Amino acid sequence: MTSLTLNDARMIPQLGLGTYQIPDAQVAAIVRGGLDAGFRLIDTAAIYHNERGVGEGLVHDDVFLTTKLWNDRHADAAAALDESLALLGRDEVDLYLIHWPRPEADDYVDAWRALVDLREAGKTRSIGVSNFLPEHLDRIIAETGVTPAVNQIELHPTFQQRDCVAYHADHGIVTQSWSPLGQGETLKDDRIVAIADRLGATPAQVIIAWHLAKGFSVIPKTANVDRLPSNFAAQEVKLADDDIAAIDAMNDRDGRMGPHPNEL
Ligand SMILES: NC(=O)c1ccc[n+]([C@@H]2O[C@H](COP(=O)([O-])OP(=O)(O)OC[C@H]3O[C@@H](n4cnc5c(N)ncnc54)[C@H](OP(=O)(O)O)[C@@H]3O)[C@@H](O)[C@H]2O)c1
Repeated sequence: MTSLTLNDARMIPQLGLGTYQIPDAQVAAIVRGGLDAGFRLIDTAAIYHNERGVGEGLVHDDVFLTTKLWNDRHADAAAALDESLALLGRDEVDLYLIHWPRPEADDYVDAWRALVDLREAGKTRSIGVSNFLPEHLDRIIAETGVTPAVNQIELHPTFQQRDCVAYHADHGIVTQSWSPLGQGETLKDDRIVAIADRLGATPAQVIIAWHLAKGFSVIPKTANVDRLPSNFAAQEVKLADDDIAAIDAMNDRDGRMGPHPNEL
């Protein structure tokens, strides 16, 4: 499996498994199925209320585990991470992210300072953010001198966030795509289906292969164990330059499906 090098010199698997909306009671089986299929990156968050189940499913040691600080804990990040670690049954995670900047509260710089301390304390190996716009990134970098390793943002063929991606490239930040399949909607798009039919691949494989070809880390979610092996095998699907260009051309600046980062 391909890995990307983070700006703190650690490695992150490029392809991972998302767990949003998978209930705590069901997620252990999905995580185990994901590990059986080959996944070695699991993405959860305190707000998903499934960290206990994710922890139960982690039957291998060599798994890159991400969790996230929820919005009402920006002033309380150390205790929040301890609570997540207790549920996950781990002494540390691989990556801890500030889930949303919540700029109205004006406390994300303090939260970022706390994450820097948590990395120093060995509670998380790497630190990053999610849903940060370039203006938020500018501020934490200027005020702390520490650049996030990852920014996890909404990114799919119909919402490609090119300004953010360019900023990340300039600053050595890995772009990680959330809702990479457009929450399942983009799987039905005729342009994706046509490429999939021609290549003998599934629409999900085509979209995941596009994220990988663009150099993003990508965390498609499925709650269906039968889909895990084929989603993981997307790494073997090789898109032609024309296919990548055709998917690039699907970009829609108004294609956002989730909340705007300044509005949550
Ligand atoms: N940082 C953030 O603010 C944030 C926000 C949203 C999401 N995320 C993360 O990103 C992950 C992925 O995003 P997402 O869950 O919103 O959406 P997504 O991965 O774009 O799409 C998931 C949808 O695609 C379907 N699907 C997956 N593989 C399929 C396949 N092979 N064939 C047919 N359908 C398939 C799933 O259905 P089934 O489950 O029925 O297979 C589900 O409906 C989340 O789980 C979470 O870890 C982060």
